[in-house]
Amino acid sequence: MIQYRGFTKRFTGRTAVDTLTLGVPAGSVVALLGPNGSGKTTSIKAAAGLIRPDAGEVLIGEQQLSALDPQGRRRCAFLPQRVSFPDTLTGREVVEFYRRLRQAPADAADRVLKFASLNGAGARAVGTYSGGMIQRLGLAVATLGTTEVLLLDEPTAALDPEGLAAFYQLVEARRRAGGTVFFSSHQLGDIERLADAVAVIVAGRLVAEFTGSDLAARLADRGVMRVRMAAPAAEILDRVRTRCAGAFWSGSELMIPGPASLRPAVLEAIRGGGAEILGLTTEEGRLEAFYRELIEASS
Ligand SMILES: Nc1ncnc2c1ncn2[C@@H]1O[C@H](COP(=O)(O)OP(=O)(O)OP(=O)(O)O)[C@@H](O)[C@H]1O
Ligand SMILES: [Mg+2]
Repeated sequence: MIQYRGFTKRFTGRTAVDTLTLGVPAGSVVALLGPNGSGKTTSIKAAAGLIRPDAGEVLIGEQQLSALDPQGRRRCAFLPQRVSFPDTLTGREVVEFYRRLRQAPADAADRVLKFASLNGAGARAVGTYSGGMIQRLGLAVATLGTTEVLLLDEPTAALDPEGLAAFYQLVEARRRAGGTVFFSSHQLGDIERLADAVAVIVAGRLVAEFTGSDLAARLADRGVMRVRMAAPAAEILDRVRTRCAGAFWSGSELMIPGPASLRPAVLEAIRGGGAEILGLTTEEGRLEAFYRELIEASS
């Protein structure tokens, strides 16, 4: 687990992260979301023990070791936002170097190179790699050991769909093994797909925290139900509007925006009006729109 307690970091008078208090429980996957410059990298680096807080602290693991303590650092693997490796080494040499450094078992190198789909390219110099291949190599290095905590700063920014699928599998495997994953991302799909909880920071301050099910419920509440009816009668809309004031016709479909909990009553109202329902679909609210509103409300 990771525990931020009033973590504050200033750079030349400017506060990058302001009294962040946030817990990432053991065995969970938590996403850190926020606009450029909001303090995500600073926060993640502090958990990796690479940034000394100006105030507050960051604690790692069950024993609540300081992130600055070498014992605490040993429990974490960190993928930086900008990974770079010596251009003249091959991918395999890079992985092998870190494997020895971390004292991971000999077969770990093959495992991670395969995961990163680099086994074909493992013999090539890193200088010849594409951006996505470098990111895969970074993920391979970060997952060499079996550390309790994985800290990943924008792990998916350069990944193609195949790389993304491999990354999702990796996170799922870590979660199943009881590991803790804390990652930042601008890809809202990652968050919908992976996160048990989401923390949103804007201008260095935590502005919102949701569990995965909170988020799903909020998105469902911002969704819309479309109901298709046989020979829809105009007065149906009046009946439905007693349950959902925002309902409207879209062609021959009745649109019912708003909370999912309204929907059963709306369907009853439609049936009560004698209309025959031919079909219905529901769409959840978009995370993009919800995120934009959050940012606008807090900046
Ligand atoms: N070494 C540094 N020296 C001075 N200012 C810094 C330093 N590192 C970060 N900052 C500032 O701290 C703030 C937070 O930066 P940080 O890199 O944590 O943001 P971020 O949320 O990771 O952004 P992005 O989405 O662009 O990666 C920014 O205003 C940035 O300019
Ligand atoms: Mg960053």
